[in-house]
Amino acid sequence: MKDQILVTGGTGYIGSHTSVELIEKGYEVVIIDNLSNSSIEVLDGIEKITGVRPAFEQFDLCEADKVKSFFQKYTGLKAIIHFAAFKAVGESVDQPLMYYQNNLISLMNLLRNMDEFGVKHLVFSSSCTVYGQPDELPVTENAPVKPAESPYGNTKQISEEIIRDNMQVKPELNTIALRYFNPIGAHSTSHIGELPRGVPNNLVPFVTQTAAGIRKELMVFGDDYNTPDGSAVRDYINVVDLAQAHVVAINRLLQKKNNSNFEFFNLGTGTGSSVLEVVKAFEKVTDQKLNYKIVDRRSGDIEKVWADTRVANEVLGWKAKRSLEDTLESAWNWEKKIRGIK
Ligand code: UD1
Repeated sequence: MKDQILVTGGTGYIGSHTSVELIEKGYEVVIIDNLSNSSIEVLDGIEKITGVRPAFEQFDLCEADKVKSFFQKYTGLKAIIHFAAFKAVGESVDQPLMYYQNNLISLMNLLRNMDEFGVKHLVFSSSCTVYGQPDELPVTENAPVKPAESPYGNTKQISEEIIRDNMQVKPELNTIALRYFNPIGAHSTSHIGELPRGVPNNLVPFVTQTAAGIRKELMVFGDDYNTPDGSAVRDYINVVDLAQAHVVAINRLLQKKNNSNFEFFNLGTGTGSSVLEVVKAFEKVTDQKLNYKIVDRRSGDIEKVWADTRVANEVLGWKAKRSLEDTLESAWNWEKKIRGIK
């Protein structure tokens, strides 16, 4: 019998790619999503790639009674990957209570039911935002957690603390927190990808929408940073590479290879790229000029961050494989497909 894994937020961007990788590695996937930032058609995409349509339950994880009914129905869960959360930095500044309510209550409902129903393994979707602007680069998992720059970032920090405190009294729980750098790109088949609602906040969907003619021009936020070309530097990681790290984390938990019951891993490539480098790489792979202009820095942005990936490489046994160019090409192919561009 296949091991059954619950993927919360499984129709979302990273959740859908992870569901595909889990199915392809022989796991049975059950998805919970309230579709607040994703669409039901994502299930078709997952099915087209894998030939399997995962079980799907649509409800909000903040509704405690529904979470409990779910655990009463699905009694064979081996592990949970918890993606479901709000993730827009700017929106979290405008609506902090909505972010704390959604991101923290859902986690606590899950933890309470994991305890009650004996589910012992959790992979938690965290972020490099917990490091703020690190003092040393590349940033290691031992770098201090800095005061959060936004309510969104704070929900990731508090979530890690909630998990840690709960494990003090529930030592049978095992958790891996994966701290993502900047996930980009889409599945190579173009059956699933990123589907931002409204004007994208993140760089790559804004770039692909500009190239598709949906946005007039990209605004590059700042060219006066202390970086080689003056634009801000991030560690852009292919979403399929990132998804595969979740499968490795699940294998590790189920095989009980973890040395402590709460582990953290940075998921990045180990290489930083500036905004202008991303623009140039995109122009190269698409063979077209991108409309852009330099504007002021965006408030709350840090200057530069990239991952020290040694722990993920050596302990987790995972490494990002796909290049920035290939990843940008996958993002562009996806954009073309959803816009019907040849
Ligand atoms: C942020 C969060 C990250 C979160 C992610 C998800 C921080 C430090 N990081 O990443 O934790 O998971 O959002 O939403 O809070 N840029 C432009 N023009 C644009 C858009 C972006 O120049 O139109 C630049 C930004 O200034 C930045 C880089 O591109 O330098 C990447 O931005 P973005 O894709 O929004 O990600 P982060 O802000 O790094």
